[in-house]
Amino acid sequence: MNTYETKFAEIFSATKVFSFWKARVALYAILKAFGVGAGDEVILPGYTCVMDVNPIKYLGATPIYVDIEPKTFNMDVSLLEEKITSKTKVILAQHTYGYVCDMDSILEIANKHNIPVVEDCCLCVGGKYKGKLAGTFGKAAYFSGQWNKPFTTGLGGIAAVRDESLAENIARLCENELVEPSTKETFMLFAQLVVYRAFIYPRTTALAQTLFRFLTKKGAVVGSSSSCEFEPTMAEDFFKAMSKVQQNQGVRQLRKLDKNIAHRKQMASLYDELLAQKGWSPREYDSNIQEPVMVRYPVRITEKERALEEAAKAGVELGSWFECPLHPIETPMKLYNYEIGMCPEAEKASREVVNLPLHPRASKSTVKRTVEFITKFQQA
Ligand SMILES: Cc1ncc(COP(=O)(O)O)c(C=O)c1O
Repeated sequence: MNTYETKFAEIFSATKVFSFWKARVALYAILKAFGVGAGDEVILPGYTCVMDVNPIKYLGATPIYVDIEPKTFNMDVSLLEEKITSKTKVILAQHTYGYVCDMDSILEIANKHNIPVVEDCCLCVGGKYKGKLAGTFGKAAYFSGQWNKPFTTGLGGIAAVRDESLAENIARLCENELVEPSTKETFMLFAQLVVYRAFIYPRTTALAQTLFRFLTKKGAVVGSSSSCEFEPTMAEDFFKAMSKVQQNQGVRQLRKLDKNIAHRKQMASLYDELLAQKGWSPREYDSNIQEPVMVRYPVRITEKERALEEAAKAGVELGSWFECPLHPIETPMKLYNYEIGMCPEAEKASREVVNLPLHPRASKSTVKRTVEFITKFQQA
């Protein structure tokens, strides 16, 4: 393991850690190493990023969606068991926005049917459930270092594995199939990290995102997703390793992790307090989730589209995800076995939820300004 992987393994008490170009690549490695293939089924919440679904489809398996429970946006565990069939190969427990899933119930059902659980920790780093760190419950967990995630390496993915034979399978896969990123894309990512550090602050985020999407389409920057990833066909160079630039950035980020987590908790409490002062009902989550470490602070409003438009004009950093059960909205969901109406709570959340910044660059004044802005709208 390289330094980044070793440090990750220490924090998450993993048997073995593997680093990749993106988290979706880590998930692909995990699923393939579990032997997921044509005819198999993988269960996941119907409120996710389509990039999470792609690896399932690439392997010829079928995603089976479970609706969410409306408070934490995590899989509604009361609906899980009915989705299990003889074809179910893996259950993906996605800790949404930072709320850790109801792991006792998920593991009880999974163990009863002898199905491995993999944790999606892309939106949850440092959160605990009954005192135990998210990412330490399943046979494997995967993490993202993409720009919007709890910590950033520009792009990046980690598979933290706690099962010897799974680790051996992933190691074999990497040896045989993993491709190295090109010098050009590594250099571009490095340049983007420099620009990000210098210029991206809450007031400039909306503008930067628009520019970033435009430049991604033109091929002038390394985007989070290429256009071919909005269809379930795997690109030739998909199974890609993590570059040295990302690893070095990752080591720096892990050094600052405790501070990052403390900041997120403090800013979330400030949102709680200021929103309550404005008469908004408080967020609710199970007491087993102690002090969640949120990636963003989700709120429900009645006019999501108008709020997003006005936020962009006002320079307020308002997040839109998830815009649909398989974010982003352009996704032809039928290609991913999703039919409208399958997950009503997820569809409702997609219409109502916007998310507020908590990252290390969001200061107390960012929080105050964001609350002033969002409370001009009506809570849903
Ligand atoms: C819940 C979730 N899991 C996984 C991913 C994939 O992460 P990455 O962009 O690093 O592949 C994303 C978003 O991109 C996500 O929102």
